[in-house]
Amino acid sequence: MKILFATSEIYPLIKTGGLADVSGALPKALAQLGIDVRVVTPRYASLKIDQEHPLQTIGNLSILGQPIEIAQTLLPGSNVPVYLVDHPVFSARQGNPYMGPDGNPWHDNPERFALFCRAVVSLATSALVDDWVPDVIHCNDWQTGLIPALLSESSTPKTLFTIHNLAYQGVYDRNTFERLGLPWSLWKENALEYWGNMSFLKGGIVFSDFITTVSPTYAEEFQTPEFGYGLDGLLSHKKDRVRGILNGIGDDWDPETDPFIQKNYSITQLDDKTVNKTELQSLLGLPVDADIPLVVHIGRLVEQKGIDLLIQAIKELDDRRVQFAILGSGEKRFENALQSINHKRPDQVAVRIGYDESLAHQLEAAGDAFIMPSRFEPCGLNQLYSLKYGAIPIVHRVGGLADTVKHIHPNSIDDHSATGIVIDHLDVNAIKWALDYFISIYNNREIFKDIQKQGMAEDHNWIVSAKAYSDIYTEIIQG
Ligand code: ADP
Ligand code: GLC
Repeated sequence: MKILFATSEIYPLIKTGGLADVSGALPKALAQLGIDVRVVTPRYASLKIDQEHPLQTIGNLSILGQPIEIAQTLLPGSNVPVYLVDHPVFSARQGNPYMGPDGNPWHDNPERFALFCRAVVSLATSALVDDWVPDVIHCNDWQTGLIPALLSESSTPKTLFTIHNLAYQGVYDRNTFERLGLPWSLWKENALEYWGNMSFLKGGIVFSDFITTVSPTYAEEFQTPEFGYGLDGLLSHKKDRVRGILNGIGDDWDPETDPFIQKNYSITQLDDKTVNKTELQSLLGLPVDADIPLVVHIGRLVEQKGIDLLIQAIKELDDRRVQFAILGSGEKRFENALQSINHKRPDQVAVRIGYDESLAHQLEAAGDAFIMPSRFEPCGLNQLYSLKYGAIPIVHRVGGLADTVKHIHPNSIDDHSATGIVIDHLDVNAIKWALDYFISIYNNREIFKDIQKQGMAEDHNWIVSAKAYSDIYTEIIQG
Protein backbone atom coordinates (compact mmCIF):
# COMPACT_ATOMS: atom_id res chain seq x y z
CA MET A 1 0.00 0.00 0.00
CA LYS A 2 1.45 3.38 -1.01
CA ILE A 3 0.35 6.44 0.95
CA LEU A 4 1.28 10.08 0.41
CA PHE A 5 0.69 12.02 3.65
CA ALA A 6 0.12 15.73 2.91
CA THR A 7 0.50 18.16 5.79
CA SER A 8 1.29 21.82 6.41
CA GLU A 9 3.48 21.12 9.48
CA ILE A 10 5.53 18.23 10.83
CA TYR A 11 7.60 17.81 14.00
CA PRO A 12 10.59 18.16 14.33
CA LEU A 13 10.91 20.10 11.06
CA ILE A 14 8.30 22.73 11.89
CA LYS A 15 5.55 22.94 14.50
CA THR A 16 2.82 25.31 15.63
CA GLY A 17 0.51 22.78 17.31
CA GLY A 18 -0.85 19.26 17.50
CA LEU A 19 -0.99 18.69 13.73
CA ALA A 20 2.82 18.71 13.68
CA ASP A 21 2.99 16.07 16.43
CA VAL A 22 0.54 13.85 14.55
CA SER A 23 2.38 14.31 11.23
CA GLY A 24 5.70 13.46 12.88
CA ALA A 25 4.39 10.31 14.57
CA LEU A 26 1.62 8.70 12.50
CA PRO A 27 3.69 8.14 9.31
CA LYS A 28 6.38 6.40 11.40
CA ALA A 29 3.76 4.07 12.88
CA LEU A 30 2.30 3.40 9.41
CA ALA A 31 5.81 2.53 8.18
CA GLN A 32 6.14 0.07 11.08
CA LEU A 33 3.04 -1.66 9.74
CA GLY A 34 4.87 -2.19 6.45
CA ILE A 35 3.06 0.59 4.58
CA ASP A 36 5.10 2.54 2.00
CA VAL A 37 4.32 6.00 3.36
CA ARG A 38 5.89 9.27 2.26
CA VAL A 39 5.18 12.76 3.52
CA VAL A 40 4.86 16.02 1.58
CA THR A 41 5.02 19.48 3.15
CA PRO A 42 6.00 23.02 2.08
CA ARG A 43 9.67 23.96 2.23
CA TYR A 44 9.37 26.82 4.73
CA ALA A 45 12.46 28.95 5.34
CA SER A 46 12.47 28.03 9.02
CA LEU A 47 12.41 24.23 8.58
CA LYS A 48 14.84 22.47 10.90
CA ILE A 49 16.57 19.99 8.63
CA ASP A 50 18.35 17.04 10.20
CA GLN A 51 22.09 17.38 9.45
CA GLU A 52 22.25 13.64 8.87
CA HIS A 53 19.75 13.89 6.04
CA PRO A 54 20.62 17.05 4.09
CA LEU A 55 18.18 18.14 1.40
CA GLN A 56 18.48 16.65 -2.05
CA THR A 57 16.68 18.04 -5.06
CA ILE A 58 14.80 15.21 -6.71
CA GLY A 59 12.77 16.89 -9.44
CA ASN A 60 10.98 19.91 -10.82
CA LEU A 61 7.36 20.69 -11.48
CA SER A 62 5.66 23.49 -13.32
CA ILE A 63 2.44 24.72 -11.70
CA LEU A 64 0.46 27.31 -13.70
CA GLY A 65 3.71 28.27 -15.39
CA GLN A 66 5.62 28.64 -12.12
CA PRO A 67 8.68 26.46 -11.52
CA ILE A 68 8.66 24.42 -8.32
CA GLU A 69 11.50 22.34 -7.02
CA ILE A 70 10.88 19.16 -5.03
CA ALA A 71 13.53 18.39 -2.42
CA GLN A 72 13.76 15.38 -0.17
CA THR A 73 14.90 14.61 3.36
CA LEU A 74 14.03 11.83 5.82
CA LEU A 75 11.78 12.10 8.85
CA PRO A 76 14.35 11.97 11.70
CA GLY A 77 14.48 8.61 13.43
CA SER A 78 12.89 6.77 10.50
CA ASN A 79 13.22 5.86 6.84
CA VAL A 80 10.11 7.83 5.91
CA PRO A 81 10.90 10.17 2.96
CA VAL A 82 9.68 13.76 3.31
CA TYR A 83 9.15 15.68 0.05
CA LEU A 84 9.41 19.45 0.29
CA VAL A 85 7.58 21.75 -2.09
CA ASP A 86 9.97 24.60 -2.74
CA HIS A 87 8.63 27.94 -3.97
CA PRO A 88 9.53 31.44 -2.70
CA VAL A 89 6.06 31.87 -1.10
CA PHE A 90 7.34 29.30 1.41
CA SER A 91 11.10 29.28 1.22
CA ALA A 92 11.68 33.03 1.16
CA ARG A 93 9.72 33.81 4.35
CA GLN A 94 11.05 33.37 7.85
CA GLY A 95 8.85 32.58 10.83
CA ASN A 96 5.47 31.01 11.28
CA PRO A 97 4.04 28.92 8.42
CA TYR A 98 0.71 30.73 8.45
CA MET A 99 1.33 34.20 9.90
CA GLY A 100 3.61 37.13 9.25
CA PRO A 101 5.65 38.87 11.97
CA ASP A 102 2.65 41.19 12.70
CA GLY A 103 0.62 38.17 13.87
CA ASN A 104 -1.80 38.37 10.92
CA PRO A 105 -2.21 35.56 8.37
CA TRP A 106 0.03 35.97 5.29
CA HIS A 107 -2.08 38.00 2.82
CA ASP A 108 -1.59 35.38 0.10
CA ASN A 109 -2.36 32.23 2.15
CA PRO A 110 -5.00 31.06 -0.37
CA GLU A 111 -2.45 31.33 -3.20
CA ARG A 112 0.24 29.63 -1.09
CA PHE A 113 -1.85 26.63 -0.08
CA ALA A 114 -3.61 26.32 -3.46
CA LEU A 115 -0.12 26.12 -4.96
CA PHE A 116 0.83 23.48 -2.38
CA CYS A 117 -2.30 21.45 -3.22
CA ARG A 118 -1.63 21.63 -6.96
CA ALA A 119 1.99 20.59 -6.38
CA VAL A 120 0.90 17.59 -4.28
CA VAL A 121 -1.55 16.49 -6.99
CA SER A 122 1.13 16.87 -9.64
CA LEU A 123 3.69 14.99 -7.52
CA ALA A 124 1.20 12.19 -6.89
CA THR A 125 0.12 11.75 -10.47
CA SER A 126 3.33 12.39 -12.44
CA ALA A 127 5.49 9.49 -11.15
CA LEU A 128 8.15 12.16 -10.68
CA VAL A 129 10.08 10.21 -8.07
CA ASP A 130 11.14 6.59 -8.82
CA ASP A 131 7.91 6.05 -10.76
CA TRP A 132 6.18 6.16 -7.38
CA VAL A 133 2.41 6.75 -7.50
CA PRO A 134 0.42 6.63 -4.25
CA ASP A 135 -2.81 4.64 -3.87
CA VAL A 136 -4.12 7.17 -1.34
CA ILE A 137 -3.31 10.78 -0.54
CA HIS A 138 -3.95 11.33 3.16
CA CYS A 139 -4.84 15.04 3.49
CA ASN A 140 -4.92 17.03 6.73
CA ASP A 141 -6.91 20.18 7.52
CA TRP A 142 -7.94 23.06 5.25
CA GLN A 143 -4.47 23.73 3.85
CA THR A 144 -4.80 20.44 1.91
CA GLY A 145 -8.56 20.69 1.22
CA LEU A 146 -8.19 21.49 -2.49
CA ILE A 147 -6.34 18.21 -3.16
CA PRO A 148 -9.51 16.04 -3.21
CA ALA A 149 -11.31 18.79 -5.17
CA LEU A 150 -8.59 18.94 -7.83
CA LEU A 151 -8.76 15.15 -8.13
CA SER A 152 -12.56 15.04 -8.34
CA GLU A 153 -12.51 14.02 -12.01
CA SER A 154 -9.99 11.19 -11.50
CA SER A 155 -10.65 7.77 -10.02
CA THR A 156 -7.10 7.48 -8.59
CA PRO A 157 -5.39 8.22 -6.33
CA LYS A 158 -8.04 7.96 -3.64
CA THR A 159 -8.17 10.57 -0.89
CA LEU A 160 -8.67 10.47 2.86
CA PHE A 161 -9.29 13.81 4.56
CA THR A 162 -8.53 14.17 8.28
CA ILE A 163 -10.08 17.08 10.14
CA HIS A 164 -7.96 18.15 13.11
CA ASN A 165 -10.01 21.27 13.78
CA LEU A 166 -13.24 22.30 12.06
CA ALA A 167 -12.92 25.87 13.31
CA TYR A 168 -10.20 26.65 10.75
CA GLN A 169 -11.76 26.44 7.31
CA GLY A 170 -9.78 28.50 4.80
CA VAL A 171 -12.74 30.61 3.67
CA TYR A 172 -12.01 33.29 1.01
CA ASP A 173 -14.10 35.52 -1.25
CA ARG A 174 -15.18 34.92 -4.83
CA ASN A 175 -12.45 37.17 -6.23
CA THR A 176 -9.92 34.85 -4.62
CA PHE A 177 -11.59 31.85 -6.25
CA GLU A 178 -11.24 33.58 -9.64
CA ARG A 179 -7.64 34.57 -8.95
CA LEU A 180 -6.73 30.99 -8.08
CA GLY A 181 -7.82 29.90 -11.56
CA LEU A 182 -9.85 26.98 -10.25
CA PRO A 183 -12.30 25.30 -12.65
CA TRP A 184 -15.78 26.89 -12.60
CA SER A 185 -17.24 23.43 -12.07
CA LEU A 186 -16.00 23.78 -8.47
CA TRP A 187 -18.04 26.96 -7.89
CA LYS A 188 -21.29 25.39 -6.73
CA GLU A 189 -23.00 24.51 -3.51
CA ASN A 190 -22.04 20.84 -3.59
CA ALA A 191 -18.41 21.80 -4.26
CA LEU A 192 -16.29 24.67 -2.86
CA GLU A 193 -18.92 27.40 -2.78
CA TYR A 194 -19.90 28.31 0.79
CA TRP A 195 -22.41 31.13 1.36
CA GLY A 196 -21.02 33.17 -1.54
CA ASN A 197 -17.40 32.45 -0.61
CA MET A 198 -15.07 29.53 -1.25
CA SER A 199 -13.98 27.08 1.45
CA PHE A 200 -10.84 24.96 1.24
CA LEU A 201 -12.11 22.73 4.06
CA LYS A 202 -15.38 22.07 2.26
CA GLY A 203 -13.37 20.83 -0.72
CA GLY A 204 -11.83 18.18 1.50
CA ILE A 205 -15.17 17.15 2.97
CA VAL A 206 -17.15 17.07 -0.28
CA PHE A 207 -14.62 15.37 -2.55
CA SER A 208 -12.59 12.98 -0.37
CA ASP A 209 -13.38 9.28 -0.39
CA PHE A 210 -13.41 9.13 3.40
CA ILE A 211 -13.30 11.62 6.28
CA THR A 212 -11.74 11.07 9.66
CA THR A 213 -11.29 13.22 12.70
CA VAL A 214 -9.11 12.74 15.74
CA SER A 215 -11.50 11.31 18.34
CA PRO A 216 -14.76 9.32 18.29
CA THR A 217 -16.59 11.93 20.39
CA TYR A 218 -15.59 14.84 18.11
CA ALA A 219 -16.77 12.76 15.13
CA GLU A 220 -20.25 12.80 16.74
CA GLU A 221 -20.06 16.38 18.02
CA PHE A 222 -19.11 17.99 14.71
CA GLN A 223 -22.31 16.67 13.17
CA THR A 224 -24.29 18.97 15.51
CA PRO A 225 -24.89 22.73 15.15
CA GLU A 226 -23.10 23.43 18.44
CA PHE A 227 -19.74 22.13 17.17
CA GLY A 228 -20.24 21.97 13.40
CA TYR A 229 -19.23 25.55 12.46
CA GLY A 230 -21.83 25.54 9.70
CA LEU A 231 -20.66 22.22 8.24
CA ASP A 232 -22.62 19.88 10.55
CA GLY A 233 -25.32 19.25 7.93
CA LEU A 234 -22.78 18.25 5.30
CA LEU A 235 -20.86 16.06 7.74
CA SER A 236 -23.92 14.24 9.00
CA HIS A 237 -25.02 13.72 5.39
CA LYS A 238 -21.70 11.89 4.87
CA LYS A 239 -21.78 10.09 8.23
CA ASP A 240 -21.30 6.62 6.70
CA ARG A 241 -17.90 7.79 5.52
CA VAL A 242 -16.90 9.58 8.73
CA ARG A 243 -14.89 8.01 11.56
CA GLY A 244 -13.11 9.21 14.69
CA ILE A 245 -9.65 7.78 15.41
CA LEU A 246 -7.85 8.88 18.56
CA ASN A 247 -4.36 10.33 18.32
CA GLY A 248 -1.54 8.55 20.13
CA ILE A 249 1.59 9.60 22.01
CA GLY A 250 4.79 9.93 19.95
CA ASP A 251 8.23 8.66 21.09
CA ASP A 252 9.30 12.19 21.92
CA TRP A 253 6.97 12.24 24.91
CA ASP A 254 8.26 9.71 27.42
CA PRO A 255 9.46 10.68 30.92
CA GLU A 256 11.85 7.71 30.96
CA THR A 257 13.86 9.01 27.99
CA ASP A 258 12.88 12.68 27.52
CA PRO A 259 16.13 14.62 26.92
CA PHE A 260 14.53 18.00 27.78
CA ILE A 261 13.74 17.23 31.43
CA GLN A 262 16.01 17.48 34.49
CA LYS A 263 15.58 13.93 35.72
CA ASN A 264 14.05 11.00 33.89
CA TYR A 265 11.52 8.96 35.85
CA SER A 266 9.03 6.15 35.47
CA ILE A 267 6.02 4.66 37.17
CA THR A 268 8.32 2.69 39.47
CA GLN A 269 10.51 5.72 40.25
CA LEU A 270 7.82 8.33 40.56
CA ASP A 271 9.65 10.13 43.38
CA ASP A 272 12.19 11.33 40.81
CA LYS A 273 9.44 13.46 39.28
CA THR A 274 9.83 15.78 42.28
CA VAL A 275 13.27 16.87 41.09
CA ASN A 276 11.63 18.20 37.93
CA LYS A 277 9.10 20.09 40.03
CA THR A 278 11.59 21.86 42.29
CA GLU A 279 13.91 22.63 39.35
CA LEU A 280 11.03 24.19 37.46
CA GLN A 281 9.90 26.22 40.48
CA SER A 282 13.41 27.57 40.75
CA LEU A 283 13.66 28.24 36.99
CA LEU A 284 10.38 30.16 36.96
CA GLY A 285 11.01 32.07 40.20
CA LEU A 286 8.27 30.33 42.19
CA PRO A 287 8.90 29.45 45.85
CA VAL A 288 10.68 26.08 45.81
CA ASP A 289 8.50 23.69 47.79
CA ALA A 290 7.79 20.11 46.73
CA ASP A 291 4.61 20.01 48.82
CA ILE A 292 2.67 22.82 47.17
CA PRO A 293 0.44 21.44 44.41
CA LEU A 294 1.57 22.71 40.99
CA VAL A 295 -0.95 23.11 38.17
CA VAL A 296 0.46 23.63 34.66
CA HIS A 297 -0.96 24.67 31.31
CA ILE A 298 0.55 24.79 27.81
CA GLY A 299 -1.35 25.95 24.80
CA ARG A 300 -2.40 28.35 22.12
CA LEU A 301 -3.96 31.33 23.89
CA VAL A 302 -7.27 31.36 22.01
CA GLU A 303 -10.92 31.05 23.03
CA GLN A 304 -11.10 27.39 21.95
CA LYS A 305 -8.84 26.49 24.87
CA GLY A 306 -11.02 28.26 27.50
CA ILE A 307 -8.05 30.38 28.54
CA ASP A 308 -10.34 33.36 29.36
CA LEU A 309 -12.23 31.21 31.90
CA LEU A 310 -9.02 29.85 33.36
CA ILE A 311 -7.61 33.36 33.79
CA GLN A 312 -10.76 34.44 35.64
CA ALA A 313 -10.70 31.34 37.87
CA ILE A 314 -7.04 31.93 38.76
CA LYS A 315 -7.84 35.55 39.61
CA GLU A 316 -10.56 34.43 41.99
CA LEU A 317 -8.48 31.72 43.68
CA ASP A 318 -5.79 34.03 45.03
CA ASP A 319 -5.94 32.61 48.57
CA ARG A 320 -5.40 28.93 47.76
CA ARG A 321 -2.21 27.06 48.56
CA VAL A 322 -1.43 26.17 44.92
CA GLN A 323 1.00 27.29 42.22
CA PHE A 324 0.35 27.79 38.50
CA ALA A 325 2.87 27.63 35.66
CA ILE A 326 1.58 28.62 32.23
CA LEU A 327 3.28 28.59 28.82
CA GLY A 328 1.51 29.88 25.74
CA SER A 329 1.24 32.34 22.93
CA GLY A 330 -1.67 33.65 20.95
CA GLU A 331 -4.10 36.53 21.28
CA LYS A 332 -2.57 39.65 22.81
CA ARG A 333 -5.47 40.22 25.25
CA PHE A 334 -4.83 36.82 26.87
CA GLU A 335 -1.05 37.25 26.86
CA ASN A 336 -1.46 40.62 28.60
CA ALA A 337 -3.97 39.31 31.17
CA LEU A 338 -1.66 36.43 32.09
CA GLN A 339 1.36 38.68 32.38
CA SER A 340 -0.56 41.02 34.63
CA ILE A 341 -1.48 38.19 37.07
CA ASN A 342 2.16 37.09 36.97
CA HIS A 343 3.28 40.62 37.98
CA LYS A 344 0.72 40.85 40.78
CA ARG A 345 1.28 37.36 42.20
CA PRO A 346 4.81 36.23 41.20
CA ASP A 347 4.90 33.79 44.14
CA GLN A 348 1.87 31.93 42.91
CA VAL A 349 1.53 32.33 39.15
CA ALA A 350 4.44 31.92 36.71
CA VAL A 351 3.83 32.81 33.06
CA ARG A 352 6.01 32.43 29.99
CA ILE A 353 4.72 33.90 26.75
CA GLY A 354 6.16 32.38 23.58
CA TYR A 355 6.76 29.03 22.00
CA ASP A 356 9.25 26.80 23.85
CA GLU A 357 9.41 23.08 23.08
CA SER A 358 11.87 22.31 25.87
CA LEU A 359 9.90 24.21 28.54
CA ALA A 360 6.72 22.41 27.42
CA HIS A 361 8.37 19.07 28.27
CA GLN A 362 9.65 20.44 31.59
CA LEU A 363 6.16 21.61 32.55
CA GLU A 364 4.68 18.17 31.88
CA ALA A 365 7.44 16.59 33.97
CA ALA A 366 7.01 19.06 36.84
CA GLY A 367 3.23 19.38 37.02
CA ASP A 368 1.01 17.63 39.57
CA ALA A 369 -1.95 18.53 37.37
CA PHE A 370 -2.45 19.82 33.82
CA ILE A 371 -5.50 21.98 33.23
CA MET A 372 -7.19 22.04 29.81
CA PRO A 373 -10.65 23.65 30.02
CA SER A 374 -11.22 23.68 26.24
CA ARG A 375 -14.63 24.76 24.94
CA PHE A 376 -14.15 22.11 22.24
CA GLU A 377 -11.21 19.81 21.60
CA PRO A 378 -11.01 17.54 18.54
CA CYS A 379 -8.46 15.33 20.33
CA GLY A 380 -5.99 17.26 22.44
CA LEU A 381 -2.49 15.96 22.98
CA ASN A 382 -1.37 17.60 26.19
CA GLN A 383 -3.86 15.66 28.31
CA LEU A 384 -2.39 12.45 26.82
CA TYR A 385 1.17 13.60 27.52
CA SER A 386 0.03 14.57 31.03
CA LEU A 387 -1.31 11.09 31.71
CA LYS A 388 2.03 9.65 30.72
CA TYR A 389 3.99 12.21 32.82
CA GLY A 390 1.88 11.78 35.95
CA ALA A 391 0.36 15.28 35.79
CA ILE A 392 -3.27 14.50 36.31
CA PRO A 393 -5.47 16.12 33.63
CA ILE A 394 -8.28 18.50 34.59
CA VAL A 395 -10.47 18.77 31.48
CA HIS A 396 -13.89 19.64 30.08
CA ARG A 397 -15.99 16.67 28.93
CA VAL A 398 -15.73 17.35 25.16
CA GLY A 399 -14.13 15.67 22.14
CA GLY A 400 -10.93 13.79 22.75
CA LEU A 401 -10.78 15.01 26.35
CA ALA A 402 -13.99 13.09 27.11
CA ASP A 403 -12.56 10.02 25.37
CA THR A 404 -9.26 9.94 27.26
CA VAL A 405 -9.78 11.07 30.87
CA LYS A 406 -11.69 9.05 33.47
CA HIS A 407 -13.22 11.20 36.23
CA ILE A 408 -12.20 10.75 39.86
CA HIS A 409 -15.14 9.75 42.08
CA PRO A 410 -15.46 7.24 44.91
CA ASN A 411 -16.21 4.30 42.58
CA SER A 412 -13.40 5.02 40.13
CA ILE A 413 -11.01 5.49 43.05
CA ASP A 414 -12.05 2.11 44.46
CA ASP A 415 -11.69 0.22 41.19
CA HIS A 416 -8.48 2.09 40.27
CA SER A 417 -9.78 3.45 36.99
CA ALA A 418 -9.73 7.19 37.79
CA THR A 419 -7.18 9.26 35.85
CA GLY A 420 -8.27 12.90 36.15
CA ILE A 421 -10.96 15.49 36.81
CA VAL A 422 -13.66 15.96 34.20
CA ILE A 423 -15.87 19.07 34.19
CA ASP A 424 -19.38 18.52 32.81
CA HIS A 425 -20.60 22.11 32.39
CA LEU A 426 -17.79 24.53 31.72
CA ASP A 427 -17.72 27.97 33.37
CA VAL A 428 -15.50 29.87 35.81
CA ASN A 429 -17.13 28.31 38.87
CA ALA A 430 -16.70 24.81 37.48
CA ILE A 431 -12.98 25.46 36.97
CA LYS A 432 -12.68 26.78 40.53
CA TRP A 433 -14.51 23.70 41.80
CA ALA A 434 -12.20 21.41 39.80
CA LEU A 435 -9.07 23.13 41.11
CA ASP A 436 -10.30 22.87 44.71
CA TYR A 437 -11.16 19.22 44.12
CA PHE A 438 -7.67 18.63 42.76
CA ILE A 439 -6.07 20.31 45.81
CA SER A 440 -8.06 18.06 48.13
CA ILE A 441 -7.06 14.93 46.18
CA TYR A 442 -3.43 16.06 46.12
CA ASN A 443 -3.43 16.33 49.89
CA ASN A 444 -4.43 12.70 50.16
CA ARG A 445 -1.12 11.39 48.88
CA GLU A 446 -1.89 7.68 48.65
CA ILE A 447 -4.94 8.26 46.48
CA PHE A 448 -3.15 10.92 44.43
CA LYS A 449 -0.23 8.59 43.64
CA ASP A 450 -2.59 5.81 42.70
CA ILE A 451 -4.34 8.10 40.21
CA GLN A 452 -1.03 9.29 38.76
CA LYS A 453 0.10 5.69 38.24
CA GLN A 454 -3.21 4.76 36.66
CA GLY A 455 -2.64 7.35 33.91
CA MET A 456 1.03 6.52 33.49
CA ALA A 457 0.21 2.84 32.96
CA GLU A 458 -2.14 3.52 30.04
CA ASP A 459 -1.04 2.58 26.54
CA HIS A 460 -1.51 5.24 23.84
CA ASN A 461 0.83 3.78 21.25
CA TRP A 462 0.35 5.23 17.75
CA ILE A 463 0.36 1.70 16.31
CA VAL A 464 -3.25 1.19 17.42
CA SER A 465 -4.41 4.29 15.53
CA ALA A 466 -2.15 3.49 12.57
CA LYS A 467 -3.98 0.15 12.20
CA ALA A 468 -7.32 1.96 12.15
CA TYR A 469 -6.04 4.29 9.38
CA SER A 470 -4.65 1.33 7.49
CA ASP A 471 -8.10 -0.32 7.55
CA ILE A 472 -9.62 2.81 6.03
CA TYR A 473 -6.95 3.00 3.29
CA THR A 474 -7.78 -0.61 2.41
CA GLU A 475 -11.51 0.12 2.41
CA ILE A 476 -11.22 3.07 0.05
CA ILE A 477 -8.71 1.41 -2.27
CA GLN A 478 -11.13 -1.48 -2.66
CA GLY A 479 -13.91 1.02 -3.32
P1 ADP B 1 -3.72 22.25 19.28
O1 ADP B 1 -3.18 21.47 18.15
O2 ADP B 1 -5.18 22.56 19.17
O3 ADP B 1 -2.93 23.48 19.56
P2 ADP B 1 -2.98 19.94 20.92
O4 ADP B 1 -3.21 19.66 22.37
O5 ADP B 1 -3.42 18.89 19.98
O6 ADP B 1 -3.64 21.34 20.61
O7 ADP B 1 -1.43 20.10 20.63
C1 ADP B 1 -0.67 21.20 21.01
C2 ADP B 1 0.80 20.86 20.84
O8 ADP B 1 1.54 22.08 20.75
C3 ADP B 1 1.38 20.12 22.03
O9 ADP B 1 2.48 19.35 21.61
C4 ADP B 1 1.85 21.28 22.92
O10 ADP B 1 2.84 20.88 23.84
C5 ADP B 1 2.38 22.23 21.89
N1 ADP B 1 2.36 23.65 22.29
C6 ADP B 1 1.31 24.49 22.30
N2 ADP B 1 1.68 25.72 22.70
C7 ADP B 1 3.02 25.65 22.96
C8 ADP B 1 4.00 26.60 23.40
N3 ADP B 1 3.67 27.86 23.66
N4 ADP B 1 5.27 26.18 23.53
C9 ADP B 1 5.60 24.89 23.26
N5 ADP B 1 4.72 23.95 22.85
C10 ADP B 1 3.45 24.33 22.68
C1 GLC C 1 -5.96 20.25 16.33
C2 GLC C 1 -6.91 20.14 17.51
C3 GLC C 1 -6.39 19.24 18.61
C4 GLC C 1 -5.76 17.97 18.05
C5 GLC C 1 -4.70 18.34 17.03
C6 GLC C 1 -4.01 17.12 16.42
O1 GLC C 1 -5.09 21.29 16.43
O2 GLC C 1 -7.25 21.41 18.04
O3 GLC C 1 -7.46 18.89 19.48
O4 GLC C 1 -5.18 17.22 19.09
O5 GLC C 1 -5.28 19.06 15.99
O6 GLC C 1 -4.92 16.23 15.83
